[in-house]
Amino acid sequence: MKKLMAANWKMYKLHSEAKDTAEALVKALKGAAPEDREVLIIPPFTALRSVRKAIKKVPGFALGGQNFFPSMQGAYTGEIAPDMLVDMGCSYALAGHSERRHIMGESDEFVGKKVAFGLERGLSMILCVGETIDERKEGKLAEVVRRQMLEGLAGVPADVVPERLTVAYEPVWAIGTGLTAGPREVLDAHALVRSILQEKFGQKAFEMRIQYGGSVKPENASEILSLDNVDGVLVGGSSLSADSFSKIVTA
Ligand code: PGA
Repeated sequence: MKKLMAANWKMYKLHSEAKDTAEALVKALKGAAPEDREVLIIPPFTALRSVRKAIKKVPGFALGGQNFFPSMQGAYTGEIAPDMLVDMGCSYALAGHSERRHIMGESDEFVGKKVAFGLERGLSMILCVGETIDERKEGKLAEVVRRQMLEGLAGVPADVVPERLTVAYEPVWAIGTGLTAGPREVLDAHALVRSILQEKFGQKAFEMRIQYGGSVKPENASEILSLDNVDGVLVGGSSLSADSFSKIVTA
């Protein structure tokens, strides 16, 4: 199973900047992803086309969308359909990122609709889950992650191709704060995610990837990636520069 090294560029970069960063990343990685890694760039919608051009023929690279509305098409001003992402060359999309849950108010149920619909429309889905600092302090980590996963995966068919489903464990208190979960915290949370996947999908759970996200940087990437049940990373801030993200990709 290749580790999934994802760059979530959030609401950063004009399309020309995104193109330059993608090209610099390809150059820094000498024209291909490392053999055992898959590199996924998730730029803003307005940069999808430019980034697609920059990475189109690069082995081991893929393009993803940060969000979509779970419908084929329709009168949904400001939204974008999964087929539009596929049309732009995306093979992946995110659902349930904490910024969408907490800033845009997305519910577990709505996130679940996106995961199921995205899979149906041909995208590989990354379901993000994770507890806030208050939930962790109250001892609710397991409860929160279980709820987010069960609702987030509610519409996923049992015969799903396991490689097309990834869960990203991202403790909310570690996103963009410089705080990273320690090895013990990552090990425990990822073991929990694996066990919930196993309850739902049986042996297939071992072919699904679990990413860690939250202040991953070149200095901590190799330790995080060496931990059991860590099959990749989802990187925000440190993915914005080709130099730091290429170091993470090769860590
Ligand atoms: P960060 O963001 O690396 O800036 O903490 C991670 C994420 O939001 O996916």
